[in-house]
Amino acid sequence: MEQSSTVPNGSARESHFAALLSAGEKIEPRDWMPVAYRRTMIRQIAQHAHSEVIGQQPEGNWITRAPSLARKAILVAKVQDEAGHGLYLYSACETLGISRDELNELLHQGRQKYSSIFNYPTLSWADVGAIGWLVDGAAITNQVTLTRTSYGPYARAMVRICKEESFHQRQGFEIMTTLAQGSEAQRAMAQDALDRWWWPSLAMLGPPDEQSTHTDQSLQWGIKLETNDEIRQRFVDQTVPQAHFLGLHVPDEALAWNEGRGHWDFGDIDWDAFWEVVRGNGPCNHERLAHKVQAWQDGAWVREAGLAYAAKQAHGAPRNSA
Ligand SMILES: [Fe+2]
Ligand SMILES: [Fe+2]
Repeated sequence: MEQSSTVPNGSARESHFAALLSAGEKIEPRDWMPVAYRRTMIRQIAQHAHSEVIGQQPEGNWITRAPSLARKAILVAKVQDEAGHGLYLYSACETLGISRDELNELLHQGRQKYSSIFNYPTLSWADVGAIGWLVDGAAITNQVTLTRTSYGPYARAMVRICKEESFHQRQGFEIMTTLAQGSEAQRAMAQDALDRWWWPSLAMLGPPDEQSTHTDQSLQWGIKLETNDEIRQRFVDQTVPQAHFLGLHVPDEALAWNEGRGHWDFGDIDWDAFWEVVRGNGPCNHERLAHKVQAWQDGAWVREAGLAYAAKQAHGAPRNSA
């Protein structure tokens, strides 16, 4: 994949790439792209794909304990959607010249990351509501802008994903509404979940603009269309009225409507705590990755059987030979 920087007529290709970007056209797998653009796209799409897959774990923990058959069916569908999002994104990433096996290997070795939000535990059923409402909600705020990102396969995957994420956000909010209108104990459970998930949801939108190492180049390349702080502000503005509708308290004493700005002001995020989780010291980092690696190893026989079947078909074996 590195050869693309050394092809002849490099400057013509570079200006074609720049022209596509400035015309708002998509960069497609067939197009020449700078090595650093390709590397950035691989890193970003891989991190996103890994997040979808690892993100099944915190909610998957509650499938066996969902409070009703209907809740269980909805949660199973939601968790399956996340697996599907991972598959779309691995496919998009493969168009950049890296295989799914390599991507899995990089994740399993801890050389590629997934979103730090999935390193927190799900302690009660209300956490399933809070994750749908806040975590999927924050993810959509970011991902809606990514439907216009410059790399075609990523942008198109994002259109489909955003539709499904909207369902996830609604189902989470509906769980929170039911709990918030329920018994004293249910209200307390909903509040406790909001207390624990609020700040990590704000932090998952990435470091503040002044500390974000990738922002400028990514904006220039049309990979990112808004900065982390802009996206975070929009998420806060959308979500605070929803918390008030639920009659829940947002755990931020600095939260206040700013008439002049037309936005909610909010308190400082504890970035030291965020970086601790990113560095691998969150409550569930070890457990999440170990579970993923184990699932990959346990599934080896399925991959082997698939390959054996494909080889047999390729050699023209009769279908019902067994
Ligand atoms: Fe997803
Ligand atoms: Fe989701």
